[in-house]
Amino acid sequence: MMLDPTTARLTAQDAETAAQTLRRGGLVAFPTETVYGLGADAANADAVARLYAAKGRPSFNPLIAHVADLAAARKIARFDDVSLRLADAFWPGPLTLVLPKAADCPVCELATAGLDSVALRVPAHPVAQSLLRAFGGPVVAPSANRSGHVSPTTAAHVAADLDGRIDAIVDGGPVMVGVESTIVGCLGSPVLLRPGGVPRDAIEHMLGRALIAPTAVADAGNAPVAPGMLASHYAPHARVRLGATHVEAGEALLAFGSALPPGAEAAIAVRNLSPRGDLAEAATHLFGALRELDAVGAGAIAVMPIPPQGLGEAINDRLRRAAAPRA
Ligand code: TXA
Ligand code: MG
Repeated sequence: MMLDPTTARLTAQDAETAAQTLRRGGLVAFPTETVYGLGADAANADAVARLYAAKGRPSFNPLIAHVADLAAARKIARFDDVSLRLADAFWPGPLTLVLPKAADCPVCELATAGLDSVALRVPAHPVAQSLLRAFGGPVVAPSANRSGHVSPTTAAHVAADLDGRIDAIVDGGPVMVGVESTIVGCLGSPVLLRPGGVPRDAIEHMLGRALIAPTAVADAGNAPVAPGMLASHYAPHARVRLGATHVEAGEALLAFGSALPPGAEAAIAVRNLSPRGDLAEAATHLFGALRELDAVGAGAIAVMPIPPQGLGEAINDRLRRAAAPRA
């Protein structure tokens, strides 16, 4: 299914076709504003099992349930004052909340890995919105890539990883944000489980308090750490060298800003995340650039330092995972 990326809307008929595929237990990849997701009916354990298999994902790693609005979310999980304020401020948008399950939570146990909590998100992308409204129930959707690989920011990335393993790809053009949603655990004091598309400072400013680090929660002996935050993740095939202030022989360069480091002229290939040094622009280019530099066959990718503030926290988090020793 191809869409005009400049308008990126689903016709009612296309939305209904995709929703039918989900109702039959099929797997449908679709754009959200963060990255492309691979959707399945959250209430259908067989569909969720096929989803894990298509991704090659360890099934102890729970999924995010996507719904069209807060009213739908409240049928799935219990909100308190803090989580309601977060939802009000940032939904629809790139924020996921981990919440206590509601008594009759429709999301199957396989999708939540048997936890008492459930991760929920209301995406802002108009295509995701149309699909969720047409389907009418929660849709679990991990990033639409093979497990451990770089997240997809275009329909072509999805096809490269999953063609032949899934039922449909809804093409809504390139995504707007480029890194996954920020995940905040709301099972007590709010915890930053994964930095992402909503910068930490925006959340802390709205709440008027600091988000706790997951390690602080784990140290206190009462998990949850986002179980999916495996050290090596988002990994290209090439070795990734961070904080590069020069380029070595045989390396490709992932640049940021206008001043390139010594050796850049001899790099095997160069991608600049944002020549003008804009972190939002850099986020939109991150995963595509990693895929492209991987495709030129460089043994290693040298990555220039990226400032840590704002979206830089999520960008640096993904780069550290890309650079981590492989399992
Ligand atoms: O932007 C996004 O969030 C994208 C788009 C498609 O919505 N989705 C995405 O899903 O990044 P995925 O499956 O790649 O990451 C979901 C993360 C995992 O790290 C998982 O461990 C965590 O959410 N998670 C899910 N349920 C959880 C729970 N009950 N408690 C703690 N972490 C949870
Ligand atoms: Mg992922």
